[in-house]
Amino acid sequence: MKYRAVKGTRDLLPPESERFADAEAAARRVFSSYGYGEVRTPCLEATELFARSVGETTDLVHKEMYTFPDRKGRSLTLRPENTAGVVRAVIENGLAAGPMPLRLWYEGPQFRYERPQAGRYREFRQIGAELLGVPGPAAEVEILTMLFDFLEALGFRGLTVALNSVGTAQSREAFGRALKEYLSRRSSGFGEDDRRKLEENPLRLFDSKDTAVRAALEGSPRTLDFLDAGSRRHHEEVRQLLGESGLPFRDEPSLVRGLDYYTRTVFEVTSAELGAQDAILGGGRYDNLVELLGGPALPAIGFAIGEDRLLQAAPRPAPSRSLLLVLPQGPEDLADALRLAGELRAGVGGAVEVDLLARGFKKGMARGNALFEEASARGLDSEKIFAVLLGAREREEGTVTVKRLASGDQETIPRARVAGWFEGRV
Ligand code: HAM
Repeated sequence: MKYRAVKGTRDLLPPESERFADAEAAARRVFSSYGYGEVRTPCLEATELFARSVGETTDLVHKEMYTFPDRKGRSLTLRPENTAGVVRAVIENGLAAGPMPLRLWYEGPQFRYERPQAGRYREFRQIGAELLGVPGPAAEVEILTMLFDFLEALGFRGLTVALNSVGTAQSREAFGRALKEYLSRRSSGFGEDDRRKLEENPLRLFDSKDTAVRAALEGSPRTLDFLDAGSRRHHEEVRQLLGESGLPFRDEPSLVRGLDYYTRTVFEVTSAELGAQDAILGGGRYDNLVELLGGPALPAIGFAIGEDRLLQAAPRPAPSRSLLLVLPQGPEDLADALRLAGELRAGVGGAVEVDLLARGFKKGMARGNALFEEASARGLDSEKIFAVLLGAREREEGTVTVKRLASGDQETIPRARVAGWFEGRV
């Protein structure tokens, strides 16, 4: 029996895992500079939470959830997204009754039973943020500005937000009726699932990838034509304030998003690096959700970034890490090598590795050269990889020999001055 990772899941190994950790560190840095605190909610929630918030007839709830009964027969679901869990936590812990606005961010795994393909996994990670308690367009501006600060910190340039408004529950209903009427006359080529959507929740047809559906949607009614006066005004204010803050956005009248909790503003960011249908991130306003889940009436807005897709599309930063390889000539040099490595970690920094097998200089250098070959994949600056050799001669003289792998140059220096020697070199 060979064990393999479950289909659609994957192992993150170094150096890839470090890119994830770096992105999460950047999120923490940027989001906390806006006053957002981290929230960690359980991966397991009651199934009912998602059915109620994301919506019974969405693809997400209808066919993509990992749902199972626990040993007592309660229906549990591995979270497919984090907004519902955050809102539940906010209500349950009394934060919805506390001072507003409430600013929260999160990072963690989500689970969706989708067909795996490039950039689409059954276990994937999201980085997201939620802002509660602000009804006006300043909320949109803060959320999107913070999002762009984060994307720029990762090296993205030239991205644009696709923006739309889906209005209130009532205007969505009017839009849904008009859409249904429009599509009913064009639905002869629809498959069974899309016919179900047409009956139950016509907005969800915008999520369909089927060519017959996409063709039928050309020229269909637009959400903006069905907005109530309040949502229309809000949308105009959002567009104006975003324009004034210099945030790059474009109107996307067919954007509706695949989750039912949205009201008014919805947005997405796509990247040319990914397939056209794959968004790096999505979000929007959900002014009714807190109340729907049993809390007070509280407006809210947020986004979630697909971390796996984000890193697939992100520019790779120039490798900058250093590596010092401490090579004892034989087992008798090992204790000294371990001590020296400690001094170098404290005095130089970067990564310091000891050849714990004390295989001698030749084998130690072979490993050094192999690491040198893979330097950039490992995030190492090849100019900053050194071997530090400790053998009988060095022990006698009270020296160490330092070898730069990029040039092969080496130099023997007094042991007491070794940390200082690296100054300006790594
Ligand atoms: P969502 O659009 O369902 O929104 O997911 C957000 C992002 O998660 C997507 O844009 C995509 O990058 C990533 N994603 C989704 N499914 C997968 C998958 N199978 N594999 C890899 N990445 C995936 C939400 O989840 C909302 N909770 C966002 C939000 C927060 N709205 C308001 N607040």
